[in-house]
Amino acid sequence: MDKLIITGGVRLDGEIRISGAKNSALPILAATLLADGPVTVCNLPHLHDITTMIELFGRMGIEPVIDEKLSVEVDPRTIKTLIAPYELVKTMRASILVLGPMVAHFGYAEVALPGGCAIGSRPVDLHIRGLEALGATIEVEGGYIKAKAPEGGLRGGTFFFDIVSVTGTENIMMAAALAKGRTVLENAAREPEVVDLANCLIAMGAKIQGAGTDTIVIEGVERLGGTRYNVMPDRIETGTYLVAAAITGGRVKVKDVDPTTLEAVLSKLQESGAEVTTGRDWIELNMHGKRPRAVNLRTAPYPAFPTDMQAQFIAMNTVAEGTGTVIETVFENRFMHVYEMTRMGAQIQVEGNTAIVTGVQRLKGAPVMATDLRASASLVLAALVADGDTLIDRIYHIDRGYECIEEKLQLLGAKIRRVPG
Ligand code: EPU
Repeated sequence: MDKLIITGGVRLDGEIRISGAKNSALPILAATLLADGPVTVCNLPHLHDITTMIELFGRMGIEPVIDEKLSVEVDPRTIKTLIAPYELVKTMRASILVLGPMVAHFGYAEVALPGGCAIGSRPVDLHIRGLEALGATIEVEGGYIKAKAPEGGLRGGTFFFDIVSVTGTENIMMAAALAKGRTVLENAAREPEVVDLANCLIAMGAKIQGAGTDTIVIEGVERLGGTRYNVMPDRIETGTYLVAAAITGGRVKVKDVDPTTLEAVLSKLQESGAEVTTGRDWIELNMHGKRPRAVNLRTAPYPAFPTDMQAQFIAMNTVAEGTGTVIETVFENRFMHVYEMTRMGAQIQVEGNTAIVTGVQRLKGAPVMATDLRASASLVLAALVADGDTLIDRIYHIDRGYECIEEKLQLLGAKIRRVPG
């Protein structure tokens, strides 16, 4: 297992390009299964989760064509089996995103039921109930979700999400695009990735209104065609590098980003004392060598503060001036990084879904272990300001969501290297 060794203490300075969004690329790849012709997806990030999705397609008999710029062309007409096997689903929960498109287009789908994960129990009941609202018959048997469309295909319906779910909204929106008649999704997720997926579906010929609001209305169409679509920039990767600048007192300009998708994060960074400047497709953060001030925050669905940035802000609070209270409302067990940071000298008290972080002058390097994707990013951030060396184990988690993290950080001046293990 590869490890990262980071020597802290360098004030980051420089410019980097942000990759395409993982959480947009995955549903968009799944959406290609709805088409009657080839769909080309561009600006895909080079990440392990993307490779897993492509491997899943391979298992189903579809051979995506990948070019040198990592654009992927998928022609779902060659599909042979409608099964997403457990070996792949257990490594990537987002595999559940093929459920809606397959049952809508091919009338049947069998997708392994994802288990719990490091950040919470993460059930998929809303995905199942949403598809049932469109007429699918669903049985869970032998650890698999077996979904069957009625004679004549799925039909439109109204579905209310009692909890806002990002991939739940995406799955049902994709299925509804090919259902007969009108579907109304209420209390839908408003995340920019949902909007990006809707724009891709619209480019394929779908009729969707209201993506980005909590009510999405989909008029089903007979067929969806091929298209070429560019995945949006990754707002969580963007935010992570901005925190890297803030925590080290440095200056970083991130390019090829969409500042409008980061309002809650940018406002918290400004509150911490950072100077933030934005252009159409770039953001520059300058901390002018200052120590950040601690910030209070509460995670919630978009447009509120994203749970996927919570761990990184805890890292910043560990060395900030003052005390910051961080409340996690989306997942029930998303504080695993706290215990690793404590090994580096951080002062954090966890009570239920609240972490109270009292900033210390300095963290100290230590061997630590990554437990999930964003937790591992937060340990990298803590290591950037810790005295001495930090050895981060189990970094396969980070490779699921951050393209070339060590190269990008090296470009900004960080002392970071990967050691094969
Ligand atoms: N939930 C249910 N039932 C369901 C679905 C969700 O109770 O059927 C609950 C979850 O347990 C959770 C809450 O609803 O408490 C919200 O979960 P959501 O469904 O929105 O999460 P997700 O769609 O599985 C996506 C991202 C996550 C991100 C969350 C929240 C993708 C592929 N994943 O997950 O990204 O944290 O939305 O914004 O889009 C990451 O990138 O590190 C990551 C975990």
